[in-house]
Amino acid sequence: QHNFLRVFQMKKMDCQTRCSLAEVQGIPMPEFFVSYWERVEKFQAFKGDLLIATYPKSGTTWTQEIVDLILNQGDIKKCMRAPTDERMPFLEWTESDPTLSGITRLQKMDPPRVIKTHLPIQLVPHSFWKAGCKVIYMARNPKDTVVSYFHFDRMDLTQPEPGSWSEYLEKFMKGQLAWGSWYDHVKGYWRERENKAILYLFFEDMKEDPAREVRRIAEFLGQQLPESTISGIAQNTTFTAMRKNPMANYSSIPDTIFDRKVSDFMRKGEVGDWRNHFSPEQNAVFEDQYKKMMANVPIPFRFEI
Ligand code: A3P
Repeated sequence: QHNFLRVFQMKKMDCQTRCSLAEVQGIPMPEFFVSYWERVEKFQAFKGDLLIATYPKSGTTWTQEIVDLILNQGDIKKCMRAPTDERMPFLEWTESDPTLSGITRLQKMDPPRVIKTHLPIQLVPHSFWKAGCKVIYMARNPKDTVVSYFHFDRMDLTQPEPGSWSEYLEKFMKGQLAWGSWYDHVKGYWRERENKAILYLFFEDMKEDPAREVRRIAEFLGQQLPESTISGIAQNTTFTAMRKNPMANYSSIPDTIFDRKVSDFMRKGEVGDWRNHFSPEQNAVFEDQYKKMMANVPIPFRFEI
């Protein structure tokens, strides 16, 4: 069990509550990030560092595993050297014990590093752009994203109480969940994808043809890999394979943080689970808002598959 989790457990025993959200430059964030925000703003990225950016529950962990395998020429043993969050730290995870923060972990690693973030583009530290870092953005259709986020917030005892499904959906639509508005998030990176080195990917495309998407990512990273390696990476990053991989499935996080009686981190990994959650009325209201919010930026999200 990593140190970070042990300390977190102790902290949980002290407070026994889920966190609240507080705003950072207008974006709701877990409140314990806020006092250490300066560390994030001042984070020093270096040339060659790679940022994997997502709105929560859009396939971050999946993308991270694919990237690590690509950078290690498909060698799964090398990618099992440590859990995901140690191999590719979470940039904005900051809290009272600095040794537990993503930034402290990153500062101990030699560049080039692979860095995870859920920050909307306007909050990405300036040094990433100054150093010309590449960014891989993974987006997922919002209906499946909110369903996945709902189940995650039910089981992740560090997140605020999700409330009922209908209350939760309302909060998502108002941009009141941690990391803010899904709409602003996906549009922000989409708008900048050609000005900056951003590879914009979709969860649904990855499900449809994993080898094709692995190939795209490898090309973006300038890695020439034989087809056998590409297909090996696709096989090692299926939902079933990752669910079994203790270094990719967050099983090192104790039940006092991830309450697996409620739900698992590797929950379903499907496209279209929203159909089991949205009522016809909720779907109509959602689609109406979606059309309005996305009218100015026609991102090709697919719900109907
Ligand atoms: P579900 O809750 O719909 O199952 P993130 O890593 O951004 O937190 O996203 C988590 C979501 O991605 C979860 O969705 C999880 O099951 C899914 N996921 C993780 N690895 C996956 C994989 N290899 N293939 C498909 N889905 C995966």
